[in-house]
Amino acid sequence: MNEKDFFELLHSRRSTRKFKDKKLSKEQIVKIIQAGITAPSSLNKQPWNFVVVQDREKKKKLREIYTNARRRQNLYEQDTVFVEYATPIVLVCENENNDFLYSCAMAVQNMNLAAVAMGLASLQAVAATTFEEDRKAISELFDIPKDKFVMLLLFFGYAGEKPVPKPKKSVDEVVRWE
Ligand SMILES: Cc1cc2nc3c(=O)[nH]c(=O)nc-3n(C[C@H](O)[C@H](O)[C@H](O)COP(=O)(O)O)c2cc1C
Repeated sequence: MNEKDFFELLHSRRSTRKFKDKKLSKEQIVKIIQAGITAPSSLNKQPWNFVVVQDREKKKKLREIYTNARRRQNLYEQDTVFVEYATPIVLVCENENNDFLYSCAMAVQNMNLAAVAMGLASLQAVAATTFEEDRKAISELFDIPKDKFVMLLLFFGYAGEKPVPKPKKSVDEVVRWE
């Protein structure tokens, strides 16, 4: 891939909240996860685990947890039906060192970009895991051990919308040259 192609890919990623009701193949899901696990991690600890959710009933429950969590946080009302259409992946992190979250975030963006390269769309959502009670509910739903930290939800699928690009701050707004 040349430089131009890479930057085009980077700029074409959009958080997507509408997906087609079309399943991803196992190969597609594995490819996305492989992109995640090639990410750098502190001391190469690779503190991540992924729960791939394909079961309809569990997706419904996950949607309920996410929707209620958003309401409790007074976030804007969102049509969360996409949770049932996308392939949700729960990102679970080891909770043994305080840099585990940074390492897991590296894997998340690799997965987002892999999805774009594969003609797919994605969304990462922390609203579902902000409060401990919601993380607990997700852990119980997927039998995740108590000592593991449910970091966030990732959604992958075929885009059912073309989101308008979000305004981003300019370099001048965020950089101080010394
Ligand atoms: C750490 C993190 C958590 C996020 N959590 C949510 C979420 O819970 N629900 C949601 O709809 N979007 C969530 N987003 C998506 C952001 O709203 C989105 O990245 C932002 O509006 C910029 O849009 P863009 O991703 O299309 O550039 C999250 C993004 C990040 C990086």
